[in-house]
Amino acid sequence: MDRIRIIGGNPLNGIIPVSGAKNAALPLMIASLLTSDTLTLENVPRLADVNLLMRILGNHGCDYRMDGKRVGDAPYAGQTIHLEASTIVDTTAPYDLVSRMRASFWVVAPLIARMGVAKVSLPGGCAIGTRPVDLLLMVLEKLGAQIEIDSGYVHAKAPHGLRGAEIDFPKVTVGGTHTALMAASLAHGVTLIRNAACEPEVRDLADCLVKMGAKIKGAGTSTIEIEGVTRLHGARHAVLPDRIEAGTYAMAAAMAGGDVLLEGAQESLLPVALDILRQTGATVETTARGLRVARHGGVIMPVDVTTEPFPGFPTDLQAQFMALMTRAQGTSRITETIFENRFMHVQELARLGARIRLDGDAAIVEGRPVLKGAPVMATDLRASVSLVIAALAAEGETLVHRVYHLDRGFERLEQKLQACGAQVERISDPG
Ligand code: UD1
Repeated sequence: MDRIRIIGGNPLNGIIPVSGAKNAALPLMIASLLTSDTLTLENVPRLADVNLLMRILGNHGCDYRMDGKRVGDAPYAGQTIHLEASTIVDTTAPYDLVSRMRASFWVVAPLIARMGVAKVSLPGGCAIGTRPVDLLLMVLEKLGAQIEIDSGYVHAKAPHGLRGAEIDFPKVTVGGTHTALMAASLAHGVTLIRNAACEPEVRDLADCLVKMGAKIKGAGTSTIEIEGVTRLHGARHAVLPDRIEAGTYAMAAAMAGGDVLLEGAQESLLPVALDILRQTGATVETTARGLRVARHGGVIMPVDVTTEPFPGFPTDLQAQFMALMTRAQGTSRITETIFENRFMHVQELARLGARIRLDGDAAIVEGRPVLKGAPVMATDLRASVSLVIAALAAEGETLVHRVYHLDRGFERLEQKLQACGAQVERISDPG
């Protein structure tokens, strides 16, 4: 199994190109099941989750083709993939595939909307909490599907098609909103979603669905109206930049010091997180090419943070921010309101010398001037990158084990950091 070796202490200086957003690419790829035509997606990141989802879609009958490199392509240009589900040959998503990537459960929406039937494995537990799917099933039931759960599978049926309905989410859910958008686009009549997720990835999915012929108003706000159509067609769409990847490298630069241009990053995708970063003492500026983040010496100031749905501070940056706070001059309180049990990184950060105490849904971080390198274990995607951030500023060597978590969500992480002067390398075990 691969490991990542980091020798801390070097500042980061240079340019980091921001890849397409994983959390936008996945639902966009799943939307290809809604039409028999070709959906072409540009700027798709090269990630293990994308490859796995292609296999899952292939199992339903979706063909996929990827463009090769083109003359003049930048070394980090995202990939273009063509997805064509001309015939859905299998409406079952089996446990061995769904259990490996939670988001693949979302195939239930296009399958039931297009085929009137779907059998999808429940995704099971995950390192960041129980993560139920009750609200996703509520969406399908509101739209007229009959749902039964048997032997770990959701059996959904709507032999006469889905019908538009009013959907009031009791809490903001990104996956629930994606499910509602995809299913309601092919339902008979009008659907109104209240308390919809406003995340940019939801708007990106809606923009693509509109290009495919869907009638959607209000995506990106908490009230979305969808007028169902009988058929969707092919389209071409570019995946939006990854705000979590951009925020992660912004925190890495604030942690290690230096001056980094995050090429393609947009302030509007990370409003609160960047303000918080400024409060820690980093400089963040918008330029024509992206965001420039710098910290030249000086102390890291402690700042309290609470995770919230967009536009609030994203839960997917909580672990990275905690890493930064381990070296702040003073104590900060980081409250997690989106997922229970999303503090798996605390024990591992402690191995690098961090002082963190848990208090219910909050972590109290007592900043220290020095962290020391150590062997650590990646536990989930965002937690593992928080260890990399801490290691960049730790004295000596850190070995991060189980880096397959990183490969799920960060494209060429070590190359991007190396290009800015970090001492980072991947150690691949033979076999
Ligand atoms: C997506 C993102 C994930 C991010 C999260 C919150 C992808 C692939 N993943 O996950 O990176 O951390 O949004 O921004 O885009 N909930 C229920 N019942 C449900 C569904 C959700 O109670 O049926 C709860 C969850 O347990 C959680 C909250 O709602 O407490 C928000 O979860 P949700 O927004 O649905 O997260 P995902 O879409 O799974």
